[in-house]
Amino acid sequence: MYNPFSLSRKTILVTGASSGIGKATAIECSKLGASVIITGRNRERLNETFSELENEGHNQVIADLCETSSLQNLVTGIEHIDGIVHCAGITKNIPFQFATTDKLSEIINLNFFAPTELTRLLVKNKKINKGGSIVFISSVSGVLCSAPASSMYSASKGAVNGLIKGIALDLAPRGIRVNSVIPGVVETNIFEAGVISEEQLEENKRMYPLKRFGKPIEIAHSVIYLLSDASAWITGSNLLIDGGLTLQ
Ligand SMILES: NC(=O)c1ccc[n+]([C@@H]2O[C@H](COP(=O)([O-])OP(=O)(O)OC[C@H]3O[C@@H](n4cnc5c(N)ncnc54)[C@H](OP(=O)(O)O)[C@@H]3O)[C@@H](O)[C@H]2O)c1
Repeated sequence: MYNPFSLSRKTILVTGASSGIGKATAIECSKLGASVIITGRNRERLNETFSELENEGHNQVIADLCETSSLQNLVTGIEHIDGIVHCAGITKNIPFQFATTDKLSEIINLNFFAPTELTRLLVKNKKINKGGSIVFISSVSGVLCSAPASSMYSASKGAVNGLIKGIALDLAPRGIRVNSVIPGVVETNIFEAGVISEEQLEENKRMYPLKRFGKPIEIAHSVIYLLSDASAWITGSNLLIDGGLTLQ
């Protein structure tokens, strides 16, 4: 059947696949025919994602992406891939005056250094096939706007978006594309640790012209577009998916 968004015969690495956007992305990629390599730290939740993947030929790797040895092992275990989706990420709600270098390092290490180094190692070791596609999950925060107490998170995502412009140029001669999606708030566990109160979240929701937050599957579908050959002429772009938040 004709389907320009098919991922059949593609192998896709998805980080942060034990939860939220990464989990939905891994499952939807498998439904569209991809072989998926999923990674996360929490064995139980990663197993849960693995059990929900459709079709055969998938793999799972437990890895803390902030540890150099874990990153190296992950890359060594990969033969060749056609796509990477960088979903692993954290946020912290900290007013700027309390944003110490230690706290900033924690966020920057996972949100920026880890996907940067993982991509670099995969490229350097020639593990990404020609025609490959790399997708970073960035955020409207840091690219188009920010929020009170979000300066560190915004900085990490802004850095990602600077990075992709440069990598897109460097990898274009190899036929590898590099893009990001920039979501508004998506209903996942990222805010679970009391990062933002329920009241704040409800107030925030009312700012969205479509009057709701996004769902992980909606981000997954935009990622699939960027992974598929349907987006073969798109590189260095940010795909905005925010329920109209940044219109006003
Ligand atoms: N949700 C939103 O509103 C929203 C909006 C815009 C952008 N984003 C971005 O979307 C991405 C996914 O977020 P989400 O909402 O799906 O969050 P989530 O549900 O909290 O998932 C975060 C994922 O990151 C993984 N992770 C955390 N620390 C890790 C580490 N040191 N090493 C390896 N993996 C690690 C977690 O795996 P383990 O727990 O197994 O370690 C988990 O799978 C993030 O980059 C986030 O910044 C989210």
